[in-house]
Amino acid sequence: MASLAVLILAAGQGTRMKSDRIKVLHELSGRPMIDYVIETASLITGSKPFIVVGYQADAVRQSTGNRAHFILQEEQKGTGHAVMQAEPYLKGRFDEVVVLYGDCPLLSPKTVADLIDARRRAGAGCSVLTTEVDDPSGYGRVIRSPGSCDRVARIVEHKDATREERAIREINTGVYCFDTDVLFSALPQVSLRNVQGEFYITDAVSVFASQGISTVACKTPSPEEGLGINDRRALADMAAIMRKRILDSLMLSGVTIEDPRTTYIDAGVTVGMDTIVRPNTFISGSTRIGRGCVIGPETIIEDSIIGDNVKVIVSVVEQSSVESDVSIGPFSHLRPGADIRGQAEIGNYVEIKNSVIGTGTKAHHHCYIGDATVGKGVNYSAGAITVNYDGKRKHRTVIEDGAFIGCNVNLIAPVTIGAGSFAAAGSTITDEVPPDALAIARERQTNKEGWALKRPKQFQAGPDEQKNK
Ligand code: UD1
Ligand code: CA
Repeated sequence: MASLAVLILAAGQGTRMKSDRIKVLHELSGRPMIDYVIETASLITGSKPFIVVGYQADAVRQSTGNRAHFILQEEQKGTGHAVMQAEPYLKGRFDEVVVLYGDCPLLSPKTVADLIDARRRAGAGCSVLTTEVDDPSGYGRVIRSPGSCDRVARIVEHKDATREERAIREINTGVYCFDTDVLFSALPQVSLRNVQGEFYITDAVSVFASQGISTVACKTPSPEEGLGINDRRALADMAAIMRKRILDSLMLSGVTIEDPRTTYIDAGVTVGMDTIVRPNTFISGSTRIGRGCVIGPETIIEDSIIGDNVKVIVSVVEQSSVESDVSIGPFSHLRPGADIRGQAEIGNYVEIKNSVIGTGTKAHHHCYIGDATVGKGVNYSAGAITVNYDGKRKHRTVIEDGAFIGCNVNLIAPVTIGAGSFAAAGSTITDEVPPDALAIARERQTNKEGWALKRPKQFQAGPDEQKNK
């Protein structure tokens, strides 16, 4: 028989969030809160946890994928009722079960390990993680057994508590370790006699006590670990703690974060040593950033891979890849599928989408490159654009190595610009340009001598009469 299972309760709607989305899928640092609980659970047992789902079960299943086993609680009749649904999956298969709530994302595996130890050492039927908080309102209060140091007599929910009980500041975090047999023999005796008309898992504690089975409290000194998210204020508070944890751990690993107050980095983002993250910067999703980069200020990077020694200044980078020694910005926008190769330079007001930009290529000012394959050492001048869309379909532009695309060139795709060739400034290129050629596609200039002097008097050069009025 496997020794330990983890059961996560995530079937409740979370009415206090006032949301169309189930509570456990609301995000902190870019991940649904339940993901953190699943991760902690998996670290405890080294195997998949069981999740009780109900409200928006499909959404939770979809978000979680194959990281858990799912148990359905069709009607949400309380935390005790949720645990009862797991009986067929756990009883006779696991000696112990750890119960966690899906709305408690800051819990660490170490704290849960201590809780498991506490039950085993005391030979108790249950151990419960408690903590002391300044404002316990909303939480279940822990009523200790008189005359014992660590036994719990019962847990009373805030709504059911008397004034004296509400003054207790030791709360139930909703993290428990149970002897599986003891748990499932006590649950049928849990009654509905409470304000919310629900089966509370917390009532199992008094059922145990009436049978002479003890529950021990394991009090964590870091209250934040045990706090649940019930409304959006708590979501913001917990997100702030999570954000600080992420930034602290990056700083301890050798990343300079100039202004942690204005820097937002998602869980799961990696940043290499000696990279400097400047103020007002947002790095999210699956982004990986190498060493020695300067990122920011005022920069957004989403789901992108950035090499070493890259500079990204006041720019937006989405689902793109940037090799080492590249510089981006200020004011560049790399849209999905930009693939910028080593030492390229992407400058002011440059937009790139679904394009490869070869090694050492320069696009310094005001231009658009979409659906293109640009070779090495290309010069792409100010105002040049790939005309990639004909109103129905997108077409590709190929610019071979060493080509020079002059200012304000329109490249009407599909089109190929040969290696080493020149497209003269102002040209609208519709046909292939052979290697090493000069393509000029524009009207020749004509000068009309004395033209300005022949204009009616009021249009001739001189002081602006309008200004004097
Ligand atoms: C619960 C505890 C309370 C504790 C607090 C800690 C009970 C009765 N109360 O209160 O003592 O201080 O957590 O944060 O357990 N759920 C289901 N099915 C249901 C009902 C709830 O799966 O039928 C899930 C929810 O999705 C949630 C978790 O159980 O993830 C806790 O439910 P919630 O309603 O948030 O309980 P609290 O009122 O916070
Ligand atoms: Ca809760």
